[in-house]
Amino acid sequence: MFIGAIGCEPLQLARVQLERSESLETYQKHGGYESLRKVLDGMSPDDVIGELKKSALRGRGGAGFPTGMKWSFVPKDSPKPKYVVCNADESEPGTFKDRYIMERDPHMLIEGMLIAAYALGSKTCYIYTRGEYRYIIEIMDRAIAEARAAGLVGEKILGKDFACEVYTHSGAGAYICGEETALLNSLEGLRGHPRMKPPFPAVAGLYGCPTVVNNVETLTAVPDIIRMGGEAYQKLGTEKSGGTKLWSVSGHVNRPGVYELPMGYADMEKFIMEDCQGIPNGRKLKAVIPGGSSVYIMPASDIEGKNVTMDYEGLVAAGSMVGSGGFIVMDDTVDIFESTKNLTEFYKHESCGWCTPCREGTDWLVKVFKRIARGEGKPDDAQLLLDLCDNIEGKSFCPLGDAASWPIQSAIKKFPEDFRRHLAPLAGGNGHKSLSTL
Ligand SMILES: Cc1cc2nc3c(=O)[nH]c(=O)nc-3n(C[C@H](O)[C@H](O)[C@H](O)COP(=O)(O)O)c2cc1C
Repeated sequence: MFIGAIGCEPLQLARVQLERSESLETYQKHGGYESLRKVLDGMSPDDVIGELKKSALRGRGGAGFPTGMKWSFVPKDSPKPKYVVCNADESEPGTFKDRYIMERDPHMLIEGMLIAAYALGSKTCYIYTRGEYRYIIEIMDRAIAEARAAGLVGEKILGKDFACEVYTHSGAGAYICGEETALLNSLEGLRGHPRMKPPFPAVAGLYGCPTVVNNVETLTAVPDIIRMGGEAYQKLGTEKSGGTKLWSVSGHVNRPGVYELPMGYADMEKFIMEDCQGIPNGRKLKAVIPGGSSVYIMPASDIEGKNVTMDYEGLVAAGSMVGSGGFIVMDDTVDIFESTKNLTEFYKHESCGWCTPCREGTDWLVKVFKRIARGEGKPDDAQLLLDLCDNIEGKSFCPLGDAASWPIQSAIKKFPEDFRRHLAPLAGGNGHKSLSTL
């Protein structure tokens, strides 16, 4: 497994392979908490938010919302307490970069959260991890205790007039709790159902108070942005997608791992074939899901010779999305019908049941997939899957419904043969009207 940066100096992966990288001693030896010191020594909250805006940092949890702008939505004059919540749910299939940061460099997250808390006028931070990350809570708790003993968490941080507590909280293992409002419900001890937006968490979040929810990778970018300045950070990437990005690479590549690349890295084909050292066993590239399972699947023909740049704009132009950066590579042995069926079963299992289109729709999708897999598919079943997706996408209460629809829509569009093959036996080779028009 490869861990490191390509095409840039490592920022978020700078320390992860050092001995005792999780310790405060190692972190401080390599510049740790100096950005917090810089902030407390002479920057106003507005200065910090200004640097974040200049950095063009976009949220790494999936939606890519500009972080500085999100922070600026928190009302300054609210008499209510304000909260900083780290989304460490990381349940997106194929995504394992947040886990890696927390395991190996937990103080980077604590420092990022403290700087966020200072900028937002918050005294309380929560780190919400998925249920399966119990061991990470232990690592984080140890790091928080170490930071508290060193005067970096608690009262009078670094001797200044700034107090802040950091707490960890474990989910119980539900994908929906990565959705920020379901996460907030879960953190309050309620069932992890999403909330209506607006109001957005920045205005009415945890306990109805102004709250910023950010992904682990987003928050751990903050110390470097403060250290080097927002403009310099932005220049590492592109105008609209600043800085560097972590990609967790899995599947059919010779060198899977966590890769840090400058935003706008050119290009995706080179990344797969050279940096990830190509496809094992002499097989051919068939498809890539670049941003965790909740994005459109890309066939090799949309990647090879197409100079796809790896940033928000480049991937949208190429027909997919950055999403969570969970980069899943598939060779030509993969049956896209089967892999999409597998993902659909995941979304059905994880649908929280709160809204009808997602609860009922994902169940129907699985039923149709299973029927086709049993060899009992009907000629119109591919079209039926698309119709079901159409009735879920944009109609569910939260984006989980969209996330369940997109892989299917793109799989049928880009890999009709893989669906046709499964439907062929029943039709006895006499053709499928709906499939032939795909
Ligand atoms: C079903 C679903 C699951 C999600 N899971 C995660 C997750 O595991 N981690 C994450 O950071 N964001 C996840 N998100 C996105 C969050 O709702 C939110 O956009 C993010 O935490 C905001 O942080 P950012 O601006 O730093 O990206 C998920 C969204 C949906 C709809």
